Amino acid sequence: MKGIILAGGRATRLRPLTKITSKQLLPIYNRPMIYYPIETLAKAGIKNILIIVAPESSGQFLNLLGSGNEMGVNLSYEVQDQPNGLSEAFIIGQNFIADDNVALILGDNIFDHNFAESVSSFKSGARVFAKEVSDPERYGVVEFDENHKVISIVEKPKHPRSNYAVVGFYIYDNKVVEYAKSLKLSERNELEIVDLHNKYLSRGELDVNIIEGMWEDAGTFDSLLRVNNLVAEKVRSGKL
Ligand code: G1P
Repeated sequence: MKGIILAGGRATRLRPLTKITSKQLLPIYNRPMIYYPIETLAKAGIKNILIIVAPESSGQFLNLLGSGNEMGVNLSYEVQDQPNGLSEAFIIGQNFIADDNVALILGDNIFDHNFAESVSSFKSGARVFAKEVSDPERYGVVEFDENHKVISIVEKPKHPRSNYAVVGFYIYDNKVVEYAKSLKLSERNELEIVDLHNKYLSRGELDVNIIEGMWEDAGTFDSLLRVNNLVAEKVRSGKL
């Protein structure tokens, strides 16, 4: 299993914090944000990692992380020229993925969950993770039928049909490269991750696992502040 961290984008919502640096290099308590997704992958047993960055900040990532040796991982880098959507990661990462399965983690998603079991037991298809939240309209939302079977995933619905948000850690088999290439641009001109998941779902190959524990998407001022406090508490008590 290989790992990709998507740390591109312009993070305009976090300006002026992100005017001269990348969101994923902002501090979360005692480390830059990007350390956390690297550690989440490493804990899950994934050491071969591609980091996809925006062109403006590629030098900063290299200066900070280098080969990854200090963190016990093996890092490669690619540039995403434009924020063309999450699914573009698999097209940019095609050579890196080669013939392997791949896990994707979003560079601003902070977890204390250990995905090791989910990674080691993975065989084929796509495996995504959902967590119950109070503000599902901010995320991809899982829709279940009356038998708790997943019927669809909807990106940022105005009227969410459940409180289960799809978190930014995903596992795919090698077909993901071919599927990503077959996607059409959405109305907001992006290759959407939700389209990829619905493609797997329509083939009966999507597995949705519910997770508990800390999960934050650190993409707004409030969630950034919240995750700083949560992580500080966990680091101080030796839990992270
Ligand atoms: C992205 C995904 C969304 C997912 C979220 C998790 O949204 O599109 O499905 O629930 O990450 O953080 P974004 O944060 O890019 O708006």
